[in-house]
Amino acid sequence: MPSEIRLIDTHAHVASGQFDADRAEVLARAAEAGVARIIEIGYDLPSSRAALALAEAHPQIYAVVGLQPNHVHEAPEGWQDELRAMAARPKVVGIGEIGMDYHWMKAAPADQERFFREQLAMARQLRLPVVIHSREAQDDTLRILGDAARGQPGIMHSFSGDWEYARACLEIGFLLSFSGPLTFPKATELHEAARLAPLEMLLTETDSPYLSPHPQRGKRNEPARVRLVAERLAALRDLPLDAVADQVWQNAERIFPM
Ligand code: NI
Repeated sequence: MPSEIRLIDTHAHVASGQFDADRAEVLARAAEAGVARIIEIGYDLPSSRAALALAEAHPQIYAVVGLQPNHVHEAPEGWQDELRAMAARPKVVGIGEIGMDYHWMKAAPADQERFFREQLAMARQLRLPVVIHSREAQDDTLRILGDAARGQPGIMHSFSGDWEYARACLEIGFLLSFSGPLTFPKATELHEAARLAPLEMLLTETDSPYLSPHPQRGKRNEPARVRLVAERLAALRDLPLDAVADQVWQNAERIFPM
């Protein structure tokens, strides 16, 4: 029997080639685990098209489309027109993942910032929330969000950082979405942020096929395992799983126009 607990994976890449052999089974296991909704995230134009196609084929899947900082240097001329056209489809519920990445540094910081700001402005114009990717770029991400996206609906995807960074993101009005690393026993700073932030500002995600939670760390991740993230969050908050799952569900409904 499927669980009565209703979970949401707010960030997955199920269209990834890593799922080509068994995508239907992966989606079935998610449903079995109580994952009633999945938000499929694009990171360039082809993956955004794939996210949209997946969402249009499955009632429980919604899509977010955008250019991630590690892919902005590949964007063709006129990318804005195609992104806008995709964003107009009813199953598209956000612009992302967008942001800054100084780990891979595939594009110069100034170029990353230009694409980031342009997509933040597009999302504001389209009245869609933004899904933020930030890696080793906390200061610049906060600076850009602080002056370009204050009060705009948004989510810090796979939030990683301490309470001070969490507080700065919350102060801009952004939600924090926790993924597999929340379940790692040694992630004490992350645990503290997850305990102290208002529950109304939290989401759960997998970032499948990446960031598999404990005790499946290192394996290919899949949306069913968002349950492990939600269980860890419930334990940290000293609340029952159903209470946390319900609040996270409401938070997702508030931010994404599903
Ligand atoms: Ni992602």
